[in-house]
Amino acid sequence: MSGEREGPRGLARRLTRYGDAEFALFLRKAFLQAQGLTGEAIDRPVVGIAQTASDFNPCHASAPRLVSAIKRGVTMAGGLPFTFPTISLHESFAFPSSMLLRNLMAMDTEEMLRALPLDAAVLVGGCDKTLPAQIMGAVSAGVPAFVAPVGPMLAGNHEGERLGASTDCRRLWAAWRAGEIDETRLEEAHEHLMPSHGTCMVMGTASTMACLAETFGFVLPGGSSIPAVLAERLRFGERTGRQAVEVARAGMPAPESRITPASLRNAVTVLQALGGSTNALIHLAAIAGRAGLPLDLDEVDRIGRETPVLADLKPVGRGFMEDFHRAGGLPALMRRLGSRLDLSALAADGRTLAEVVDSWPDWTDETVIRPLDEPVAPGEALAVLRGSLAPDGAVLKRAAAGSGLLQHEGPALVFKGLDDLAARIDDPDLPVTPEHVLVLRGAGPIGGPGMPEAGSLPIPRKLARSGVTDMVRISDARMSGTAYGTVVVHVSPEAAAGGALASVRDGDRIRLDFTGRRLDVLVSDEEMAARHESYHPPPAPERGYAQLFARHVTQADRGCDFDFLTSPDSR
Ligand code: FES
Repeated sequence: MSGEREGPRGLARRLTRYGDAEFALFLRKAFLQAQGLTGEAIDRPVVGIAQTASDFNPCHASAPRLVSAIKRGVTMAGGLPFTFPTISLHESFAFPSSMLLRNLMAMDTEEMLRALPLDAAVLVGGCDKTLPAQIMGAVSAGVPAFVAPVGPMLAGNHEGERLGASTDCRRLWAAWRAGEIDETRLEEAHEHLMPSHGTCMVMGTASTMACLAETFGFVLPGGSSIPAVLAERLRFGERTGRQAVEVARAGMPAPESRITPASLRNAVTVLQALGGSTNALIHLAAIAGRAGLPLDLDEVDRIGRETPVLADLKPVGRGFMEDFHRAGGLPALMRRLGSRLDLSALAADGRTLAEVVDSWPDWTDETVIRPLDEPVAPGEALAVLRGSLAPDGAVLKRAAAGSGLLQHEGPALVFKGLDDLAARIDDPDLPVTPEHVLVLRGAGPIGGPGMPEAGSLPIPRKLARSGVTDMVRISDARMSGTAYGTVVVHVSPEAAAGGALASVRDGDRIRLDFTGRRLDVLVSDEEMAARHESYHPPPAPERGYAQLFARHVTQADRGCDFDFLTSPDSR
């Protein structure tokens, strides 16, 4: 892209190769006239708007109105808006897992940004995998790009209780499994869990990634938390469109310049202070990898130890994204973090973060965005564990875990995959006690495939019915950003890549030592090596994208990106 900045602009960019550039432009202009455009329109800076509305993506139901607002902003600023479709991914409408398709969406976005004659782009996304995929694609394509999140849903209300997706979906489902509520109560609440368009309104993966996109400077200041259905979201869209035209004219900055060691540390610090999603670590590693930077998991852990959780939002705390927005939003949180951040990094509007924070309204709701000395949790939102079970790392969302199991040793109860889990977890004869460590393998990037959000295994029904609410659960899967419990995920390497998880057997003692940041199976190295001898990796899929994915996906610590798409510098 950098070479193109000096060349043709707008619709004269990237002419189709016929061996005759003048004819290619002549033909393209003929098609543009067929589209109803005059010569004056054709000469304007072009802003491409990635449209991800889909009937299979309820989280993006408000995307068309947001796109209209962005187009209005582009036109008002003298640009020419062109929308284009890409893949759209929703968590509940992708089999076997949306994560399997994140890289496909990143490739789709990257290749369209490379192919289309646009000077800048606005990427409209929101549901969990969409923003990371779009940022990965934009960084690799090198096209100046903004992100316009569709915004979170409003919170629901039922019989005096505020409810939110998907944390309360999980809580109520667990309560029903445990026999604490009946089916009628569950069904009544069902209608109130998701009362409006938008993304999950807790600090799940979608909200986390929107905030991190704002931290990196892809989202205009304060834009990550505006609820989807407010008029303010449309005004944000209009402003984003106007800003995109400015960037289209100037040709800067390229998105890779937003991903620096300093901005990456900022993102990790914000992630910890938000009590954000474990999934963000995978997406951050993938985004960093596209820019040639490794994500250092030990630094993630170190930052976590030093960063208190300040956002009182579910699933760690009590509030919802609309509360966070009213409380001051991300700039207010950044002001709290102050010198813990590198405020010389640039925001999406071209100012430094310091300038944004200084000019942001003083008022902050301290019950939602807490002062440093009154945190929701004293630190360690996300912690990184290593040990014989996870030599390349595993992640525990400390802030959403029960404190009673953080130092725990117990016998393993192993599930060999999701089918095995579904078949046995509620078996009345399952040999399980509250002391057991539930182990799920075969659910990693290759084994899942696509690392499904199965890491927060349900408490076996017979234990749930006797009042057990938490157990240590370990897997090579991911967990939803809306989930909670003493859940260790992202065990790397995964079982299907020959990791130690493949050799764990029922009854092996497993030790979780949170204080020491260790995760170990208490079996001798010789015995584990002998077991590994008889390990056979699963057969690769025979064709298509699934085969490409199985052959080239990296492990969780490297972002589950494709090895041929990450920058060599990040390896
Ligand atoms: Fe789309 Fe939660 S399912 S954001």
